[in-house]
Amino acid sequence: MLRFLLAACATMMALIATPALAGPVLLEGRKTTSLDGPWDYIVDPQDVGGSNINGVPTPRGYWLDEQVDHTDRLLEYDFTAAPKLQVPGPWNTQVPELLFYEGIIWHRRVFEQDTIDPESRYFVHFGGVNLRATVYLNGKEAGSHEGGFTPFSVEVTEQLAEGRNSLVVKVDSRSTTTSLPGLRYDWWNYGGITREVRLVETPATYVENFRLQLDPADPRYATGWVQVDGPGAADAQVSVAIEGGRKKSVTTDADGYAELRLRAPRKLWSPEQPTLHRVSITSEYESVSESIGFRTVAVEGNRILLNGEPIFLKGISAHEMLISSEGRASSEADARATLERIKQINGNYMRLAHYPHNRHMARVADELGILLWEEIPVYWAVDFASEKALSNAKQQLSELIARDGNRASVIVWSVANETPIGDARNAFLRNLAAHVRSEDPTRLVSAAAISTRESLETYARIVGAVLQNKGDQLPPEIFAAEISDPVEDAFDILSYNQYLGWYDAALLAPLLGVDEPTLRKVIMGIIPNMSLKASSGQPLVLSEFGAGALRGRRGETFDLWTEDYQAAVYTAQLQLVANSPGVAGISPWMLKDMRSPRRPLSGIQDYYNRKGIFDENGEPKLAAEVLSEFFAER
Ligand code: GCU
Repeated sequence: MLRFLLAACATMMALIATPALAGPVLLEGRKTTSLDGPWDYIVDPQDVGGSNINGVPTPRGYWLDEQVDHTDRLLEYDFTAAPKLQVPGPWNTQVPELLFYEGIIWHRRVFEQDTIDPESRYFVHFGGVNLRATVYLNGKEAGSHEGGFTPFSVEVTEQLAEGRNSLVVKVDSRSTTTSLPGLRYDWWNYGGITREVRLVETPATYVENFRLQLDPADPRYATGWVQVDGPGAADAQVSVAIEGGRKKSVTTDADGYAELRLRAPRKLWSPEQPTLHRVSITSEYESVSESIGFRTVAVEGNRILLNGEPIFLKGISAHEMLISSEGRASSEADARATLERIKQINGNYMRLAHYPHNRHMARVADELGILLWEEIPVYWAVDFASEKALSNAKQQLSELIARDGNRASVIVWSVANETPIGDARNAFLRNLAAHVRSEDPTRLVSAAAISTRESLETYARIVGAVLQNKGDQLPPEIFAAEISDPVEDAFDILSYNQYLGWYDAALLAPLLGVDEPTLRKVIMGIIPNMSLKASSGQPLVLSEFGAGALRGRRGETFDLWTEDYQAAVYTAQLQLVANSPGVAGISPWMLKDMRSPRRPLSGIQDYYNRKGIFDENGEPKLAAEVLSEFFAER
C-alpha cells in the first residue's frame, strides 16, 4: 500500500511540478558556462529509470543519481560506471549499436559551481534536445520540453548548489501521432542532446528578449519590443541604442513589456551588402547586445521584394547536416562550412528543412548575406485534430521566432511541409499562419505543398496531349500548369514540391496505361516546355525538385540513380523555371545525401536519401555544376 501511495504522490508531483519554461533567449554577452563535453549515459528502452514494472512512475528514479557501494545496498544503475557520449551530439552517430535506436537515454553531467551569487538567477539553456527532455538538477525536476529543434531554458536557481552538481536529462527520441514530426518522416531520427548546453547566470531582473526590425509600413523606423523578467520588471527604465545611430529610453509596463520605435540606420542589409549594426538594450540591472541587419521583405504581385527590389531566391534545401561528413551539424564552424558551400554554387538562399536548425545558421547567414527559409516539422500526416499537436506547433514557432526574430537573413517562416489536404489540415495551417503573424508581422509566411491530385491531373492532361499528337509542335499554353492550395490566402507566397522528373512517371504510368520507362522519357521531354505559376498570382517558390543519384554511378541519360539522369532532371527543371515568370525562387531537393530509414535499397541507397547534389561526404555530383551555372547566369 505504501508503495502505491508513494507512486501516486510522485505522479501528482510530476503533473504539477513541471514549471512553465522561461529564461533568457539572448545568450551573447551573458555569463555562461559551457556544459558541453563528455556526459555519462544509460540506455533505457523500458523507462526503468522512471517507472516500475506496471509502468507507474517511481519515486526513486535515475534522476536521483544515487551513489552506493554495490556490496550492501541494491541499486541497479550507476552513472559513475556508465559509458560516455559527447554533448552536443546524437547517440546514433557515436555508438554503432545505437544507430537505429529510438527511445529513452538518460544523460548525466556532473559539474562544479564555485560560487552562487544570491542576487543572481541561474538557468540551464539547451540549444536543442530531440525529441523530449526532462531536466533534473541535484535530484529535483527543473523542467521538461517537447520539440527536438528549438532552444529552451529551465530555471535552476533553487536547485543549484555550491560545489558538486548533478545534472540529469532524460531524453526520449520517440515521435508519436501528436508529436512534431509525427510517425513518418524522411530523415534520420538523431536522438539526444544534439546542440549546446549552457549554465546561464542573469541578474534577478533580466532582459528575457527583445525584437528590433524595420517597420514594413515605414522603413525609416525600427520597431519592436523588449521583455524584462524578474521582481524589477514592471516600470523598469530600459534604453535601446543602435551603434552609430539613435538611442531611445522606454518604461516597461506592469508585465515588464515595452514597445520600441526609433529611427533606423540608413545602411540596409542585403545579400550583396550584409551590413550589421550593434544594438544594445540597457536596464538598471544589465546591458545585452547583438548585431542586427535592417531590411524589408515583402511580396508584390508574383515577386518577392527585398528592400523594395525584386529578388529571385537562388537556393537549395538542406537538412541540418555536416557538409563534409555524415552527422548532425551543431557548431558555428559547421554552419559556416555549409553556408560557404551555398556561396560556392552561386546561391543567395537556403531552405532549412524541415525543422529549425541550430542558432548559428541564421547568425552566420546574417554575416554572409544568405537569405533563409525556416520551418517547423509539421511534416506529412500528423494528427491535425489534436490540440496537443497544435499547441506544440505554436510553441515551436514561438521558440524559433523568439530566437531568430532579429535575424535579417530569415525572410520566410514555414509552418508545414507536404501535409495532406483536408479540412482539419487546412484549419491547422491557418491557425499556425495566424500565430506566426501575431508574433512577427515583418516576415513572409508559407508552407511547402505537395504535388496534389490537381497537379497530377494537369500532368496527365499534358502527357495525354503529347502522346496523342505524336510529337507535332504543340502550342505553349498546353504546357502551362498552375498550382493552388486551399489555404493559399493565409500565406504570402505559395511553395510547391514538384517531382515530375522522379516519382511522377511511376505514379502516372498505371493511370495512363503507359509503361514507366516510356512515360519517363515523355515527361522529361515535356518538363523543359512547361511553365508553372500560382493560380492566385502570388509568388511561387519551387521548394523542391530533384532526383536520386549514387555519386560515381554513370550511364545513359535515362538510367535511374545515375549522376547523368539527376543532371538531366536539373537541366529540364531549370528550363521550366526559366519559362516561369511566376516562379520567384527555387530550393531543389537537396544539398547533400543524408541518412533516412525510408531508403533501404542495398548497393544504391543503403539507408541514404541520394537526392543530394553532393554526396554524404560533400563530394559533388554532375547536378551541382548544372545548378551552379544556372545561378551564376541568373
Ligand atoms: C519530399 C519531402 C522530403 C523528402 C523528399 C524525397 O518532398 O519534402 O522531405 O526527402 O520529398 O522524397 O526525397
